[in-house]
Amino acid sequence: MLILGIETSCDETAASVVRDGTEILSNCVSSSLKYHRRFGGVIPEIATRHHVENIDKVVTRSLHDAGRAIEDVDAVAVTQGPGLVGALLSGISCAKAMAFGLAIPLIAVDHLKAHVYSAMMRKDVPQFPFIGLVISGGHTRLCLVKDFDAFAVLGDTLDDAIGEAYDKVAKILGMGYPGGPIIDRLAKKGDPNAIKFTCRPINGTLDFSFSGIKTAVLYYMKRQATSDKRQVADVAASFQEAALKVIVKNCLKAMAAHKINTIVVGGGVSANSRFRQMIAREAEFKKFKTYFPPLDLCSDNAAMIAGLAYRMFKKGARAALDVTAKLKGGGDDW
Ligand code: KG4
Ligand code: ZN
Repeated sequence: MLILGIETSCDETAASVVRDGTEILSNCVSSSLKYHRRFGGVIPEIATRHHVENIDKVVTRSLHDAGRAIEDVDAVAVTQGPGLVGALLSGISCAKAMAFGLAIPLIAVDHLKAHVYSAMMRKDVPQFPFIGLVISGGHTRLCLVKDFDAFAVLGDTLDDAIGEAYDKVAKILGMGYPGGPIIDRLAKKGDPNAIKFTCRPINGTLDFSFSGIKTAVLYYMKRQATSDKRQVADVAASFQEAALKVIVKNCLKAMAAHKINTIVVGGGVSANSRFRQMIAREAEFKKFKTYFPPLDLCSDNAAMIAGLAYRMFKKGARAALDVTAKLKGGGDDW
């Protein structure tokens, strides 16, 4: 079964053709990132305009790369949320029009669940149940995953998400946007034990908070007033170490509490080299299995949307043509 996936939740206009949930025939992304850089963050209106202007070209390209005609597509899948409202609606409108015009099913997909699914687009798939972790620009979410459509939230972002914290800390350090990949690289040149930044788990829960550590970095940089490369690398490494330690700790707690020995990670921050190293070390020591997406599926893409849509379709999921954007994911309706 061929599914065309469309993803427009933030600054990536993406389309992909996936066969039977795992075989990626094309994976096209047109990012508006360069237009947001000078603002140090994503500007919703710019992102939305980029989607409106480019979605048809990206869809056409994804069909071309897959070597398929539009009539070959069996269903259209689209990101329903969470994300920016205008951005989501541009993708949803395009998907609805295609589904209606071609008289094929429409499937509405949750962006965060799809991030977890991006680590499952492979031959050796994780077995349910497992602990899912989404670490992205907008979310830090731990969940118990019992099936493709059975996710329960165990811990969530209380304030800044981990990716957002990376982006803000990079800004404080005078670096570019997005900050995650920059800090990832810079931290390799610094000492993670140089500065004692604290980032503690929230008592008795698996929730996350990163705004405190971000503010601590801000005050530290104000006090030091340094632009010395070595010192800045030490700050980046120390921030990263403290922030990632909390995530690793919560993952271990979640696995122990639910007696589960598999963790599946997705989202932009899952590309982080230090995080992969930390989890791999724990996994070797505590003997649990880890699944990460390949690097090209860590950030926003439509392959994960088309992939998860196939699994949902098999379980009977169909969206009506009055489906609309869901701005927040989580809580009881997840
Ligand atoms: O999943 P994603 O592409 O978009 C959202 O759904 O939010 O995640 C984007 C986030 C940004 O905050 C970016 O700084 C972060 O992922 N990121 C990283 C790395 N690559 C991207 N953070 C840490 N290390 C990286 N290597
Ligand atoms: Zn994302």
